[in-house]
Amino acid sequence: MEQELEKLRSDAAAELDQISSSGQLEDFRIKYLGRNGQLSGLMKLLGSVAKEDRPRLGKLANLVRGELEKFFSEKSAALLKQHDHSEKPDLSLPGRQRTNGRLHPVTQCMEEICSIFASMGFSIAEGPDIELDHYNFAALNIPEHHPARDMHDTFYIGNSVLLRTHTSPMQARIMEKQPPPIRVIAPGKVYRCDSDITHTPMFQQVEGFLVDRNISFADLKGVLTVSLQKIFEKDLEVRFRPSFFPFTEPSAEVDIACVICGGDGCRVCKKTGWIEILGSGMIDPEVFKMVGYDSEIYSGFAFGLGVERIAMLKYGIDDIRLYYENDLRFLSQF
Ligand code: DAH
Repeated sequence: MEQELEKLRSDAAAELDQISSSGQLEDFRIKYLGRNGQLSGLMKLLGSVAKEDRPRLGKLANLVRGELEKFFSEKSAALLKQHDHSEKPDLSLPGRQRTNGRLHPVTQCMEEICSIFASMGFSIAEGPDIELDHYNFAALNIPEHHPARDMHDTFYIGNSVLLRTHTSPMQARIMEKQPPPIRVIAPGKVYRCDSDITHTPMFQQVEGFLVDRNISFADLKGVLTVSLQKIFEKDLEVRFRPSFFPFTEPSAEVDIACVICGGDGCRVCKKTGWIEILGSGMIDPEVFKMVGYDSEIYSGFAFGLGVERIAMLKYGIDDIRLYYENDLRFLSQF
């Protein structure tokens, strides 16, 4: 019995060393000190030992119990202290920063452009990025095998399905549903298989068109001049250069006086003092015919501008790809 008590004490002491959680400590307590634990088991046997040994063994058993209880409460206090320590905030740590999200610079620019046209009475319409060949080309007077298709570097998805190469298909989509008078802008993403410092495979355009009775080229010039001056927040000079688009006749490309050098000539404007900023023209009667508008009664103009290009000029960015590299050091400056 004496040996068993000694063994119990040394077993318990060794086990205690391994304990690292309050769950384990509770198991320890039940195993050794519990009502049906090992110590109680030994004490029950006291009644059956020789009478003269009983007092000595009883005393020893009580001593072992006292010792185990002391182990238990010391370990319990130590665990509590450890736990407490980890729960306490470390006041020397630097604070966690909460940064504000912000809109992408191209989105900001897009929203500005839309609100400028909205203030001139244009409503805003959005269409699908995945477009039918019909709307992207045929309805815009670009039939199959027309050389203008070559310039679009189209991503085809199927035979007659593609990623739209411009927002102009919205002209056909809206006009076939709505009679004149009509005044709409259509912002959105467009796609071309092209990538260098001035091209990304996805970029964003704003299409605009206005159809009514007695709309002339003078209206086109007036609306575009005022909008460009508002977009660049400057009374900048604007010039209209003859051009060709299958869906407009006559067509014009619009240049603004270089916003970098003010027209003196620099690297950005290639020493010309002018920067091409959008395509435009009077809507071709062929396009009207396809949507069922009578070109004897109605006339209108259309334009399309590239948003990244405007954002590059506004913010002085010389590589369009920066907009889509998702580098926060770049994006968070806007
Ligand atoms: N869709 C043309 C392009 O992406 C831009 C354009 C030119 C749109 C003339 C027009 C326009 O509405 O009249 O290159």
